[in-house]
Amino acid sequence: MKQLAKHEKRPILFLDAGALLFQGATIPADRLAAQQAKADGIIKAVQAMGLTAAGIAPQDLAGGIDYLVRAQRKTRFPWLSMNLVRQTDRRPLFAPFIITKTGSTRVAVLGLTGRVPGPAGNTDGNFMVLPWQDVLRDTLAKVRDRADMVILLSSYPCPVNERIARRFHGIHLIIQSGHATANLPPKQVDNTLICQVGAKGGYLGRMDIRWNASRRWRHDFSGQLRTVQDRLDRTNWLIKRNQWLKRHSPRDRSALDERYRELLDTRDQLRTEIRQLQKRGRTGGKGLCAYTNSFISIRTTIPEDRAVEAIIVQAARTVNRINRKRLQRQRQQFRTTNRAGQGHANNPDPGMAALAGWQTCRACHPEQTAFWLKTGHARAWQTLAAVNQQFNLNCLVCHVTLPADDKTTGYHTEQRLALLPSTFNNVGCEACHGPGKKHARQPKRVGMRKAGAVVCLTCHTPDHDNNFDFKHKLKKIRCPAPAA
Ligand code: HEC
Ligand code: HEC
Ligand code: HEC
Ligand code: HEC
Repeated sequence: MKQLAKHEKRPILFLDAGALLFQGATIPADRLAAQQAKADGIIKAVQAMGLTAAGIAPQDLAGGIDYLVRAQRKTRFPWLSMNLVRQTDRRPLFAPFIITKTGSTRVAVLGLTGRVPGPAGNTDGNFMVLPWQDVLRDTLAKVRDRADMVILLSSYPCPVNERIARRFHGIHLIIQSGHATANLPPKQVDNTLICQVGAKGGYLGRMDIRWNASRRWRHDFSGQLRTVQDRLDRTNWLIKRNQWLKRHSPRDRSALDERYRELLDTRDQLRTEIRQLQKRGRTGGKGLCAYTNSFISIRTTIPEDRAVEAIIVQAARTVNRINRKRLQRQRQQFRTTNRAGQGHANNPDPGMAALAGWQTCRACHPEQTAFWLKTGHARAWQTLAAVNQQFNLNCLVCHVTLPADDKTTGYHTEQRLALLPSTFNNVGCEACHGPGKKHARQPKRVGMRKAGAVVCLTCHTPDHDNNFDFKHKLKKIRCPAPAA
């Protein structure tokens, strides 16, 4: 997650609050090399983009503390954490903060690492992550007189950051990371703004800040205003209903009249409150600090920079080479265990064996096949190859055709992907219609599964397709009925 601060037209700080390098908290040993190669590429790319400093989130430790320490030596920007310490003497392994100047404003940027899962919070045996209560006060004391503005890069979750904001009044901006996948607009807690950009580097958050000697944010009344407005709407509705009741049930006339007067009073009060809030919003912030906030999708921003793009392509190639070798090794391994009779020798994977492959279907369903060949599903594997990811198991699962029975047969996706015949590259007929070998032999006796929304959603997850609307998307890929 990134957060970009801009001053007038000149970017002054480009910060990353952490969770930049790796996706999960732990990485299986045999995937480490590929993941580290990818992380190398990310580091080079953000460096080329001019990163000022990066926080360290627990996820960044997934490649091992040694990896991060080595990476730090190679990078020009500092990695910050005040509470990631050596176990023996509790000294910080990284810089706790930096002080940087932009224009005439001195800005302190502090790093705070969130809680690492597990009892001791320690995977390597040589570091530990201290809780914020142990470190924050001292670190803040060190920067307070040396900076006009204090920014905390924190990978703690939002409720903890809110507690931090209430406890320490000298932090002006908390940039949090590593939790939700969503962008959140800044939230003000006392004199601290807390903000977050969606995880996994999908977005840049940009804040334009006008900072001045008051060192206080202008209060944002919009939330309060909305609440009062909602109450006014509700009151207006109650007034209408009151009048309707009087017309239709004249029995409780006097009670209704009294209620009517109360409602009018409430309405007047709320209207006054709104006028006051609007006025304070316009004038109350005089002399205080203001900001505007926006989010920028990184997919559209990265390719503009040739150098960064080249680094990313190069890193993807390296990762792909490592993944290809790994996949080859696995294929070899699965074949030997099968032959040795320990695995599923002479007993081919029943899930895969139930698939026929699209070429078989073509014989009897030429119209549907011709149509399918024109859709993206028929090119999904090539799409991966085009971005050097066709050996990445994490990507392949949704870009090829697999039976959906992992749990019941004990045949694992990894093994299937390692042994997958090229017929099943791409999202084929059976990814949607289910296994079809039996149907292909006896079409009149064995029907096919209905391709409903549930099937699509196994691949069209929010992470990979953030606007999946079944009805709309169905129109684009639904196979045509036969001509006759
Ligand atoms: C030997 C010819 C033949 C082959 C091969 C064949 N089908 Fe069919 N398929 C048919 C016939 C005939 C029907 C119509 C069945 C009916 O009306 O009872 C049909 C119907 C269907 C239907 C409509 C739903 C249903 O069950 O009626 C789907 C979907 C389908 N086939 C998909 C496939 C897929 C996918 C493959 C490849 C795995 C495939 N078919 C292979 C002959 C074939
Ligand atoms: C096995 C995973 C998988 C399943 C199941 C799946 N999709 Fe897809 N879908 C993909 C992938 C991957 C792509 C991207 C293809 C590409 O362009 O490389 C895609 C692309 C699409 C597109 C863009 C089509 C185009 O021609 O570019 C639509 C629309 C779509 N899917 C709808 C659906 C619907 C509707 C279903 C369910 C009936 C479905 N998908 C089931 C993986 C899947
Ligand atoms: C959970 C399933 C899933 C996984 C895992 C997955 N994809 Fe996809 N991918 C999709 C779907 C679905 C689409 C089509 C999205 C759409 O039509 O909007 C797609 C589309 C794409 C596209 C073409 C559209 C685009 O965004 O440019 C590319 C490239 C792509 N995926 C690459 C990858 C890579 C690289 C990985 C692994 C790092 C990966 N995918 C992993 C489901 C997946
Ligand atoms: C992305 C999902 C998807 C893929 C891939 C796909 N289909 Fe379909 N197909 C559908 C949907 C959705 C329908 C309409 C609902 C249904 O019948 O399940 C359909 C309908 C059909 C029908 C019945 C048409 C009718 O209206 O009578 C046949 C036959 C068929 N598909 C065959 C194929 C064949 C053969 C392939 C591969 C070459 C294929 N499909 C690939 C989603 C898919």
